[in-house]
Amino acid sequence: MSEALVSGVIHAGIVPSDCIFTTDISKDRLDHLERTYQVHIGTDNEEAVKWASIILLAVKPQVLPKVLKTIKKSIKKNHLVISVAAGVPISKIVAGLPLRTAVIRAMPNTPAMVLKGATALAAGENVTEDQLSVAKEIFEASGKVVVVEEKLMDAVTGLSGSGPAYVYVMIEALADGGVRMGLPRNVALTLATQTVLGTAQLALESGEHPGVLKDRVASPGGTTIAGLHELEQGGIRATLMNAVEAATRRSQELGS
Ligand SMILES: NC(=O)c1ccc[n+]([C@@H]2O[C@H](COP(=O)([O-])OP(=O)(O)OC[C@H]3O[C@@H](n4cnc5c(N)ncnc54)[C@H](OP(=O)(O)O)[C@@H]3O)[C@@H](O)[C@H]2O)c1
Repeated sequence: MSEALVSGVIHAGIVPSDCIFTTDISKDRLDHLERTYQVHIGTDNEEAVKWASIILLAVKPQVLPKVLKTIKKSIKKNHLVISVAAGVPISKIVAGLPLRTAVIRAMPNTPAMVLKGATALAAGENVTEDQLSVAKEIFEASGKVVVVEEKLMDAVTGLSGSGPAYVYVMIEALADGGVRMGLPRNVALTLATQTVLGTAQLALESGEHPGVLKDRVASPGGTTIAGLHELEQGGIRATLMNAVEAATRRSQELGS
């Protein structure tokens, strides 16, 4: 996830590579990051914190407490700390850092790797408007950004966090349908994937409600309305809504 964000800000020209210091415990990862992005590298998190003004925490949630312990005494008043650790509340991060540290919690998703991510940000109480704007700029380099209240982060996880998996299932199922009707697998997969990509792009760029766009491609008595009728009989809408609800509830359970 951190590589996606680093790649995003460098390609968007927001942060020059020599203003980025990445740390990792894996030498191979560091070599890869230095080779690919020409960023500064190191294994010492404290050194990185002393060097930087914005700290991005992108370790697994279970590793976060250990990392907070190692950087705590190097965090100064003007630092902005951004965490992408799924499910870890701002209060827990603030509790592991000096009093009044500015902390932003982010929930990105994997399409950030191709600069088409969807990220929700929630700001802690010590975060200024300027700091929130900077965080938005960082994540906008790899996709769209929304700002929400922290209590909505579980719903964000259920929708855009888990969403790529739902869409992969849809792509695979559409391709299976094509294969069932005689298309070669590679042809079916290309058509299904590109249809999902193009449809999402059109919906975003047109700004039209998806229902309006759907009506436009369903002519009376035609092929599309026949397919749509099957989707409705299969309960696709309720199934997708239930999937978001189930993932949100699971995120709530894991965080409690
Ligand atoms: N992937 C997603 O879709 C997604 C979406 C939203 C949020 N997130 C969050 O983003 C965070 C990172 O996820 P990820 O999928 O990118 O995980 P990841 O691939 O495991 O990346 C974490 C990196 O941090 C390194 N690391 C471990 N301990 C460290 C330490 N003490 N100091 C510095 N670096 C250390 C890990 O090295 P080793 O591999 O050698 O342990 C690894 O390279 C997680 O908290 C996750 O919840 C991920």
